Amino acid sequence: MHGFAPVGVGCYGARAMPASATADYAARWGYRTLDARRYERRRYGGWIRRLNLRRLEKTLARALSGVAPGALVLDVPCGTGILAPFLAGRGFRVVGTDLSPAMLAVAHEGTEALGHVQADLELPPYSPGTFGAVICTRFLMHLPAESRPRVLRTLAELARGPLVGTVCHPYTLKTFGRSVRRLLGRTAKRSPRLTRSALAAEVAAAGLRLERVIPVMPILSEVWVVVLSVPSGAQLAAPRGGPQ
Ligand SMILES: C[S@@+](CC[C@H](N)C(=O)[O-])C[C@H]1O[C@@H](n2cnc3c(N)ncnc32)[C@H](O)[C@@H]1O
Repeated sequence: MHGFAPVGVGCYGARAMPASATADYAARWGYRTLDARRYERRRYGGWIRRLNLRRLEKTLARALSGVAPGALVLDVPCGTGILAPFLAGRGFRVVGTDLSPAMLAVAHEGTEALGHVQADLELPPYSPGTFGAVICTRFLMHLPAESRPRVLRTLAELARGPLVGTVCHPYTLKTFGRSVRRLLGRTAKRSPRLTRSALAAEVAAAGLRLERVIPVMPILSEVWVVVLSVPSGAQLAAPRGGPQ
């Protein structure tokens, strides 16, 4: 690691933590021992998924346009490090952080990141303002809604620049199709989705500013890339709906 040091790295069970300090959700545990290579193949293999990844990277590039090359960027949770080549390719110095040893083992095989840290993003081992930007993809919708403002604030505090995250919205053909199926009395999967006003309310509850909402592919993709910042000169408000 160059010019960067976490302030006390935690891992499973190694750190005493108050039970109420972190949320409980399936993704906290579900990635610990999985076949991370298989996860990566299923999520990003095949030409359609690769195309989706390229679209996501293009959108992230827009979201990060104000961050200077050379900035230290935290990719959290980094999973298998899928974004590291893209981030390093834009000149950022990347640090990956994830809770899962299985995911980190694959991430660590990549050479693009400065390093990887096993840690709980709800109790991050970094001082406030350590990073030029923080990237958080494919994670926020795993959280219980009431925990999101607290986690958003925690991540935003780590950056001097933006917190760039992905969330899922309902304004797609897929969601419309599911609603039609339900209207016809058929079963259709229900996935957590954030309307624009619900997103705004969560960001406000976190005491953050919603700078931009950029659709990855309007109508076709449920992914929005959101750019959040800590209001300048403002003391962060205590987020509602989570442990303080
Ligand atoms: C769906 S994967 C997304 C990984 C990566 N961002 C991507 O886009 O492929 C969710 C990741 O969140 C990690 N995770 C879940 N809870 C976490 C926590 N509290 N702290 C750090 N990582 C966590 C899991 O280990 C898993 O790697």
